[in-house]
Amino acid sequence: MTDMFHLGWFTNFAPPPWEGQFSGHNGETWANGRFYQDLAQALERARFDYIMLEDSSMVSDAYEGSSRADLKHHLYAPKHDPLALVPLLAAVTTSLGIVATASTSFYPPYQLARTMTTLDHLSRGRAGWNIVTSSEDRAAQNYGRTKLQEHDGRYDRADEFVQVVDALWNSWDDGAIIQDRETGRYVDHTKVHTIDHSGEYYSVRGPLNTVPGPQRRPVICQAGGSPRGKRFAAEHADTIIAQSRGPERMKEFRDDIRRLAAEAGRDPDDIKVLFIVSPLVAASDAEAQELQASSKAQAETNVEKALAHLSALTEVDFSQFDLDAPVTQDITTNGHRTTLSEFLKLGDDGRTLREVAAGWSISAVDLVGSVESVADRMEEVMGYVGGDGFLMSGPMTRTYIGEIVDGLVPELQRRGLTRSDYLPQGATFRENLRSF
Ligand SMILES: Cc1cc2nc3c(=O)[nH]c(=O)nc-3n(C[C@H](O)[C@H](O)[C@H](O)COP(=O)(O)O)c2cc1C
Repeated sequence: MTDMFHLGWFTNFAPPPWEGQFSGHNGETWANGRFYQDLAQALERARFDYIMLEDSSMVSDAYEGSSRADLKHHLYAPKHDPLALVPLLAAVTTSLGIVATASTSFYPPYQLARTMTTLDHLSRGRAGWNIVTSSEDRAAQNYGRTKLQEHDGRYDRADEFVQVVDALWNSWDDGAIIQDRETGRYVDHTKVHTIDHSGEYYSVRGPLNTVPGPQRRPVICQAGGSPRGKRFAAEHADTIIAQSRGPERMKEFRDDIRRLAAEAGRDPDDIKVLFIVSPLVAASDAEAQELQASSKAQAETNVEKALAHLSALTEVDFSQFDLDAPVTQDITTNGHRTTLSEFLKLGDDGRTLREVAAGWSISAVDLVGSVESVADRMEEVMGYVGGDGFLMSGPMTRTYIGEIVDGLVPELQRRGLTRSDYLPQGATFRENLRSF
């Protein structure tokens, strides 16, 4: 029997589809956050563990040396600051975890620790931080540098960053707030300590000037896929989001993480690995397959979109390659290594760049069919992999969100595969995440 598994939803604070017949005014109004509030409420109704907001901070011109394709297809811009969206989502929900992305390459640790603690209060213990090291020189150039640090070195810096923010989050002892009316003391100063960190990358005195949040340490999310990235994730994360393709590689990835976590002295069960998928559900298997075929036909016209996206996250200009030749294999990047190698692997069978780009998806497994068939497959795959859940990523239309949240998930719940409720209100995000 397959154990219960977790659900997350992967998105960003960017325009949802705006051209379709049901997209209404989304194209104009997404930036005020209302669309995302509706999404968060829908996810909570379906008892998702969390919403995860990815981020980057640049307009890309990696494709053709121009921002044309990036802006035309709104790939990397517009994209608004996900940290600022967290309190809006928290205000309309009670139990959903809310994860926002922030980069260790650009944030000062003090500011990140302070903002995350504030968000943990505002969300009543439901804040999460997706730790990224960033992938693009173009982003570095918005923060006073010409180039991003080398790939593995970015993780060394991130290790020290986490050490600093952990020390800051622990710079106030339990019971520091006394509010003693007799002596008029709000805080007991003997329980608030400097951290006096002086390392290779950071020098931070502390203490933090914020009161520890309900979780003290927000939930840590990470997506490292390279050997160095996996080690970093296994040492620090509460939840890992992964893009391994196929059940065998999913299992291998999770087993690897669990081994690395144990080596780092952690309980592997404290880490929930969620695999990215984009289920396509319809009234019947045949209808779903028809929809998939028509979206494939459409994808051919979207080859540019896929390649511009891949160019942005690798900073390799994919417009230079012949679309009708096999995929060039000797491409390297200082950016998203895992995404690039997964893409190149798709071309192993000799397909052309056009074909691979047209069918490109970072989905771990294909889930196409009626809700019953898709639930069957999810059950089977999770049973084989051993855990810990799926991260949904699909077209951000209201129709699609409804199909997943009010169609697929109730079927999963009926089978006892996903949670039918959270812990009683007041439990933190981490407590919910670790409850099974
Ligand atoms: C589901 C998923 C979400 C990610 N979200 C972000 C993000 O928001 N911002 C970012 O800079 N990188 C993001 N990444 C990239 C990862 O942080 C990481 O760089 C990438 O998976 C490659 O792993 P590696 O750095 O260990 O090579 C994401 C990756 C995955 C698989």
